[in-house]
Amino acid sequence: MLRQLLSIAVLAKATVLSAAAAGPDPEQIKNLVTFGDSYTDVNHHSDGGIVWPVFAAQDGNFSLFPYGKSGATCSNSLTPRPYLSVFESQLPTYFAAKANGSLGALLPNETIYTLWIGTNDLGVGQLLTGGQASGVTVVDTSICAVNWVQTLYNSGARNFIFQNMVPLETTPLYSADSYPNKYWTAQRNTTEWSVFMKELTTAGNAIARLQLQLLAPTLDGAHLGFFDSHSLFADIYKNPQLYLNGTAPLNVTGAAHSCVYELNESTSGKAVCTTANGTDQDSFLWYDELHPSVQTERVVAQAIADAIRRKSENWITWLQ
Ligand SMILES: *[C@@H]1O[C@H](CO)[C@@H](O)[C@H](O)[C@H]1NC(C)=O
Ligand SMILES: *[C@@H]1O[C@H](CO)[C@@H](O)[C@H](O)[C@H]1NC(C)=O
Ligand SMILES: *[C@@H]1O[C@H](CO)[C@@H](O)[C@H](O)[C@H]1NC(C)=O
Ligand SMILES: *[C@@H]1O[C@H](CO)[C@@H](O)[C@H](O)[C@H]1NC(C)=O
Ligand SMILES: *[C@@H]1O[C@H](CO)[C@@H](O)[C@H](O)[C@H]1NC(C)=O
Ligand SMILES: *[C@@H]1O[C@H](CO)[C@@H](O)[C@H](O)[C@H]1NC(C)=O
Ligand SMILES: *[C@@H]1O[C@H](CO)[C@@H](O)[C@H](O)[C@H]1NC(C)=O
Ligand SMILES: *[C@@H]1O[C@H](CO)[C@@H](O)[C@H](O)[C@H]1NC(C)=O
Repeated sequence: MLRQLLSIAVLAKATVLSAAAAGPDPEQIKNLVTFGDSYTDVNHHSDGGIVWPVFAAQDGNFSLFPYGKSGATCSNSLTPRPYLSVFESQLPTYFAAKANGSLGALLPNETIYTLWIGTNDLGVGQLLTGGQASGVTVVDTSICAVNWVQTLYNSGARNFIFQNMVPLETTPLYSADSYPNKYWTAQRNTTEWSVFMKELTTAGNAIARLQLQLLAPTLDGAHLGFFDSHSLFADIYKNPQLYLNGTAPLNVTGAAHSCVYELNESTSGKAVCTTANGTDQDSFLWYDELHPSVQTERVVAQAIADAIRRKSENWITWLQ
């Protein structure tokens, strides 16, 4: 009898849980609020054109509220940089704007929040070269990013997309056959950098995913998507013909705007630059040694818009 009651209770719980389907309804979302670094900064971007939030807002017909800032890390208390980090600047700016009414109603059920962070936390000057606060590791930066979900949830937000880190070891800056460039001109072992970046991005992504899987069931009434930028960029790298459409030979290893410096030269010194012009640019995965090209931004935007509109689950997993 007890066993029967128990199994009925378990069944009832399972039914309740499955009643709220994972992911938002196709027509539900009207507003897109974006957080992150230069990959997401609509004003000071480094891709030579338009970044993904602008394209995604067009593709999905969303009103855009962009908070991502160039140079940002998750938190300056972990990885200090003189830029507008998510926790010390972007979130406070958003909360201030929400509080003074300048954002309008921004209904929680019609608004989705995105975060794409980590490139600067892990990169030159921080985890890669030891510039982080004492004792900080990729575990801390990953948990920081996941805490962005909880922080916004506590403020009433209910829809989230967490974009994981791209395979940074394939950027011209961190690849094994890298060259002195505007981000780093000092002597280094490029093989070791590439190996270490692969460890950092892969491990950081795995930690974030596991943490998000633990967090998701505790977020009553929320939707939380894990957007796999890592796999998307790896696929562009492997099958560029499916994504890149410029008029130059397809190029996933170089940059549309590459600048080669002398070893040990100042990063503000003179460099030998090669620039792909016009429609040639859409043949490149990377715009410069660290940033995606405009065509890559378009690909990301379409994938995000399709995920929110529920046209495709190719690169997203709805955890809740
Ligand atoms: C969101 O909630 C408000 C009321 O809380 C409701 O009026 C509106 O229809 C909802 N929007 C969607 C897309 O369900
Ligand atoms: C785009 O969104 C606006 C505001 O939510 C809505 O009024 C309009 O009908 C939408 N347009 C299309 C083509 O869906
Ligand atoms: C509201 O706050 C935001 C963010 O701090 C600020 O940029 C904006 O000027 C403020 N608007 C008003 C009307 O106070
Ligand atoms: C760079 O690091 C790799 C891997 O540790 C090593 O095999 C190689 O000898 C190093 N190259 C130089 C020039 O030190
Ligand atoms: C890719 O672009 C870089 C930078 O312009 C160039 O050096 C390299 O030769 C190109 N690679 C291919 C395969 O076209
Ligand atoms: C670059 O700087 C390093 C460290 O200061 C030094 O060992 C190396 O000889 C320099 N190389 C060149 C080409 O200037
Ligand atoms: C792109 O345009 C610039 C400026 O006109 C020119 O110097 C450069 O050679 C062009 N690049 C290519 C690959 O033709
Ligand atoms: C490549 O495709 C995008 C749409 O994804 C389009 O906007 C762009 O103009 C295309 N580029 C070229 C050179 O045809």
